[in-house]
Amino acid sequence: MKTTAITHITDLVTNDPSLDNGTPLGVIPDAAVVIGGDRVLWTGESSKAPATDNAFDAGGRTMIPGFVDSHSHLVFAGDRTQEFNARMSGRPYSAGGIRTTVAATRAAGDEELSANVARYLAEALRQGTTTMETKSGYGLTVEDEARALRIAGRHTDEVTYLGAHIVAPEYADDPAGYVGLVTGPMLDACAPHARWIDVFCERGAFDGDQARAVLTAGAAKGLRPRVHANQLGHGPGVQLAVELGAASADHCTHLTDADIDALGQSDTVATLLPGAEFSTRAAWPDARRVLAAGATVALSTDCNPGSSFTSSMPFCIALAVRDMGMTPDEALWSATAGGAAALRRTDIGRIAPGARADLVLLGAPSHVHLAYRPGVPLVEAVWQHGVRVR
Ligand code: NIG
Ligand code: FE
Repeated sequence: MKTTAITHITDLVTNDPSLDNGTPLGVIPDAAVVIGGDRVLWTGESSKAPATDNAFDAGGRTMIPGFVDSHSHLVFAGDRTQEFNARMSGRPYSAGGIRTTVAATRAAGDEELSANVARYLAEALRQGTTTMETKSGYGLTVEDEARALRIAGRHTDEVTYLGAHIVAPEYADDPAGYVGLVTGPMLDACAPHARWIDVFCERGAFDGDQARAVLTAGAAKGLRPRVHANQLGHGPGVQLAVELGAASADHCTHLTDADIDALGQSDTVATLLPGAEFSTRAAWPDARRVLAAGATVALSTDCNPGSSFTSSMPFCIALAVRDMGMTPDEALWSATAGGAAALRRTDIGRIAPGARADLVLLGAPSHVHLAYRPGVPLVEAVWQHGVRVR
């Protein structure tokens, strides 16, 4: 196995809790990272780096773990430019817009959908994302949902079945019938292709009882739950996620004190999606209260054509810092280690011996520049599974 030392890293963010050096980011100044195969082998002070086969001089730049984007919806066709334009003229966001994308997605061929997923993943990679979860949810028939998951699985291991995104148009008068489909034949067809099950628990989508039925049926088939919770208003989503031991409750825009307490006392990660608040002109989630309660917070893009058409984790970090009251350190941790926690992964989201060699080099002297220099393309190099891909 050939080894490579990446040296002269002025600011190395490891997220390595074993370092215990006073910051959750486990920052090592003047650092080096040694990688071999697809793994990190060593981290430490540059002057102490062991001999390796190859060397890469980071030239005083910053290195961070590849971003872990734990929430996106990439299997779709078309876009919703007009809807966004209308919203920016004052029209409110409505989940009903999902139907537009369902029609476009059903009409698209497999190769078109697969090329779209590849395009958005490549776009995200250029901005430092090395792991991206993605969901079905724009098919809403047995065949179209299973197809979406098969296509997603060509591009990522983190695949989520979201047949319960909205009630399919064919079942508009029979929501119970649609829940029966989602928890029956559709689940049977989809479970082999997914790791996770998700439900949009929201007024206008699925209520608490329906969401519980969806998640428990999925769990019985071996899918682990995650929940679209409390995005558009208060509701039972967060409490349900905690009760069922979901890996994450996502959005968390409208939280009561009881919701925040429940998150703080659970392992369910609160995944905040500031791109959605930005693109729907909604109120910002109160990240400070969620953090103060002791909850684990992840940041993700929610990349989708309706509520958040961004694939940029640096943009989400900048929003979280500017508008959700997170510190630059908290936001970066949430966009890396937090995302890994939301996916129940320990091999990603950190730069430590044994972790996957997913590394991002920033053209900046400090990781704080991610928020300090919003909109600037700071990502200069990316290693994924130990291979330099940019
Ligand atoms: O996470 N909330 C539900 N699903 C997406 C929006 C999907 C859409 O508008 O197309 C979300 O925001
Ligand atoms: Fe979403």
